[in-house]
This record gives sequence, structure tokens and C-alpha cells, in this order.
Amino acid sequence: MRVGVLGSGLMGGKLGTIFARAGHDVVFSYARSEKKLKKLAQETKGKARAGTPRDAAQEADAVLLAVHWSRMDDVLMQAGDLSGKVVVSCSLPMNDDDTALVIAHTSSGAEELAKKIAQARFVSAFNTVPSEVFFDVYAAKRKAGRPSLVYCGDDPKAKKVAVELIRDVGFDPVDAGPLRIARYTEPFALLVAQLAYEGKGGPELAYRFAGF
Ligand SMILES: NC(=O)c1ccc[n+]([C@@H]2O[C@H](COP(=O)([O-])OP(=O)(O)OC[C@H]3O[C@@H](n4cnc5c(N)ncnc54)[C@H](OP(=O)(O)O)[C@@H]3O)[C@@H](O)[C@H]2O)c1
Repeated sequence: MRVGVLGSGLMGGKLGTIFARAGHDVVFSYARSEKKLKKLAQETKGKARAGTPRDAAQEADAVLLAVHWSRMDDVLMQAGDLSGKVVVSCSLPMNDDDTALVIAHTSSGAEELAKKIAQARFVSAFNTVPSEVFFDVYAAKRKAGRPSLVYCGDDPKAKKVAVELIRDVGFDPVDAGPLRIARYTEPFALLVAQLAYEGKGGPELAYRFAGF
């Protein structure tokens, strides 16, 4: 597939790299320097290039949305019309200092985004990808096999695309149901992330929750 990455930071950079190595045609976009985007593309050693958010979105079979919540309107404006596009979002609705969800319990970032880009075919996924803090815990447990990754959405065809991308990154996709489930998975992702940074036992405890 042609995958357009909107937001080439920790998530977009890493996922885009893995997508390119899995054989997809990736456009990295939206970072503070074009040099970084070019470097990311070059380092995949796959089919990847740097581009503008519009380049990334307009030719894509799937668009990965991976920006901080505060950058969402800007990146969507730069991307242009996403009508009919499969949009896979890992973005969590965090406040500016990443201490709290700004949407929770009665809705979710995913649902609000799906409304905002109503003509897109929206899937919420990858927001439970373990952070780098889990690497040591995984190594210590010498965990064999592939971890599971939940996704949710209301568009069956878009979900099929997301399943392929999730597999390509090395996870077993688990269908958590309709998009409204995101209002429960997003706070859960935050819980895991918060625990992961809570001192010495944090990563281990977060790992247990993530496994659960
Ligand atoms: N990190 C995780 O483990 C994790 C897990 C699940 C979900 N998420 C969610 O995924 C989303 C992305 O997270 P992340 O950790 O990948 O964030 P990040 O590393 O900060 O990446 C965001 C990208 O946006 C770019 N950006 C920020 N301000 C910009 C500006 N003014 N102009 C142009 N580009 C700008 C950054 O550019 P630079 O590269 O130049 O900084 C970066 O490429 C967030 O919504 C987060 O909540 C993250």
C-alpha cells in the first residue's frame, strides 16, 4: 500500500519505518525539519520519501495520523481533503503537558476525529503500542511470540487495511469492536503510559496492565 505518515515523531517515524521495511510505499511528513524527514526515509532502506502532508495524504491508500493533539487541526489543514481515505490514528487526546486526556468517558479522541473528518474511513489503532520503556521488561522476560494490539472502528473495509498494517508491524490484531470502544481504550493507554514512567517498578506494572 501507499502509506502517508502525518506526524513523523516517535510513533509516525517508527511505524512508517516498519511499514516501509514490510514493503509499503511510505511518505513521511510533518516534522520540524525536512532534513529529518529525508533521513527517516533514507534510513528505512525501503520505498520511502519525504513529502508535505498534502503529498502524504493525497496519494495514500492509508494515512497514519500520529501528531500531538495540539497539532491536529494544523496537520489536517495541511493534508487537505481526506474524503474516502482510510485514516488510521494513534493520536491520543492529551493536554499540552501530556498529563491528562482532554476528552474522556463520554467520548474519545478517535470519535471526535472521526466526526471532524467525517468523509474519511477512520480506524483507531496503535495507541497501545508499548513505549520504549517496555524494551527492558520485554528483554527480561524473553517474551516469545507476538503481542496483541487492539483496534476499533465502524468501517469494515478500513479495518481490514488496519489489520494488515498491524500485522506488518509485528502484532496480532484484536478487533475490539466499534469506534466508540476508543473512549475506554484511550484512558487505558494513558494509564499504561503513566504507570510506565512511575519510578522503579513502573515499567513492570505497566507491562502487566498492557498484557491484560
Ligand atoms: N509515543 C508513544 O508511545 C505513543 C503511544 C501511543 C500513542 N501516542 C500518540 O501518538 C501521537 C504522536 O506521538 P509521538 O510520541 O509520536 O509524538 P512526537 O514524537 O512528538 O511526534 C509528533 C510529530 O509532530 C511534529 N511536530 C510537532 N510540532 C510541529 C510543528 N509545529 N510543525 C511541524 N511538525 C511538528 C514533530 O516534529 P519533530 O520530529 O521535528 O519533533 C513530530 O514529528 C500523540 O497523539 C500521542 O499521544 C504516542
